[in-house]
Amino acid sequence: EFKDNTIIVVFGASGDLAKKKTYPALFGLYRNGYLPKDVHIVGYARTKMDEEEYHKRTTSYIKNPNNDPEVAAKIEEFKKLSSYVSGNYDDNASFQNLARHMEAIEKGYKTRGVNRLFYLALPPSVFVPVAQHVKVCCYATNGTNRIIVEKPFGKDLQSCRDLLSSLKQSWQEEETYRIDHYLGKEMVKNLLVLRFANVAMGAAWDKHSISSVQISFKEPFGTEGRGGYFDEFGIIRDILQNHLLQVLSILTMERPVSFASEDIRDEKVKVLRSIPPIERKDVLLGQYVGANGKPGYLDDDTVPKGSVCPTFAATTLWINNERWEGVPFILKAGKALNEAKVEIRLQFKDVTSGIFKDISRNELVIRIQPSEAVYLKLNTKTPGYAFRAIPTEMDLTYKRRFTDTNIPEAYEALILDAIKGDHSNFVRDDELDVAWKIFTPILHWIDGREGPRPKPSPYPYGSRGPKELDSFIEKLGYKRGTGE
Ligand code: BG6
Repeated sequence: EFKDNTIIVVFGASGDLAKKKTYPALFGLYRNGYLPKDVHIVGYARTKMDEEEYHKRTTSYIKNPNNDPEVAAKIEEFKKLSSYVSGNYDDNASFQNLARHMEAIEKGYKTRGVNRLFYLALPPSVFVPVAQHVKVCCYATNGTNRIIVEKPFGKDLQSCRDLLSSLKQSWQEEETYRIDHYLGKEMVKNLLVLRFANVAMGAAWDKHSISSVQISFKEPFGTEGRGGYFDEFGIIRDILQNHLLQVLSILTMERPVSFASEDIRDEKVKVLRSIPPIERKDVLLGQYVGANGKPGYLDDDTVPKGSVCPTFAATTLWINNERWEGVPFILKAGKALNEAKVEIRLQFKDVTSGIFKDISRNELVIRIQPSEAVYLKLNTKTPGYAFRAIPTEMDLTYKRRFTDTNIPEAYEALILDAIKGDHSNFVRDDELDVAWKIFTPILHWIDGREGPRPKPSPYPYGSRGPKELDSFIEKLGYKRGTGE
């Protein structure tokens, strides 16, 4: 664990990710006393700006809605921990300059040894040159070095392998922290506890009890100026292949030998290896069109004319192992839908024939966001004289149950893990490989590499998705009860 003598370098310090996520997360950790003592944060980007401008930018996204003086004072302290270096992403001189800047800070240390954490909040085109230059010019020989990288990790199996092998020329696997920020979310971390600390859950966690599983991601806004990036990747690479598949792997893996990171990741890889590549018949694609005064995907100026890039996708995955054989796992995600919601919905099987008529199936819902919750739909006798079953809920809503607890932002949790040297919630190289194997064939089909590109089904901005969605799910045995 980095306890002192630590420098965190944020590459891409003037970019979107740094402003929206990295700096607010670093501040959150600082404010709550989780950053190493004497930590120093160095922002690095191409933009030439003085420190005042740098601080203005990096703190503009830190929230202090009620102008709390204590928070304001912490922000001022936080600024003092941080400095800025501008430079290129592809020449040695710039990185040597950064190295000198770090050495000057490190001269003030009272103890020996340094810790350097390099955070690459950068577009993929510069991942490799930056990782290489950092290794050559900024790698501490008298301490520990770690590098954090962010998706996209390639566009398919081959490009991912190429990227990883380029990065591996300079960075070892144990020095590398690949972020999938869904792994930092409280309810995703909670899956390990829900599943393995509860006999009641564990006993029902298989094909004998569960009929289908849906993992859904819904966002109520479109690409809004981010269309250039989005159109190149599409919703499957943006959400399903990484965030939702990661959730699926933790939801379905066998119990790890221990909670050590390699034990967890071994089990995740094992279950992912049991999933064959998705077939075309198991895919539903959509693209939003303008409605209710909101623009369609193709109305976004940053989107190429006539694009058939999907902004919605539902895919069915099958796990060919003893526990899950025959259970459909539906991953679905869409932009510009009717609400913001990410949840896991496990629907149980029917009560065996006969004794009750027309009763709902049990469902266990784990709501990842907003308003974290776990609830179980349970049939209960209608209170009163009649003997009838009605669907009810056992509801663990975090806001009600844990009133004073601050739930950390995913990025806070992950940066803290990287500081501690805990890899459990980061993606290992072989996980990426299997994840791409599952999705690459349908991605090549969608990209038009194997003939004409499939046309996504249109859905209105603000709707539940393409009209074919209900039948897509129902044909897999899902029974609409009092649920969605
Ligand atoms: C990112 C995607 O990885 O996740 C975005 O690139 C998406 O398109 C975001 O909006 C969603 O993250 P969260 O934490 O808001 O659910």
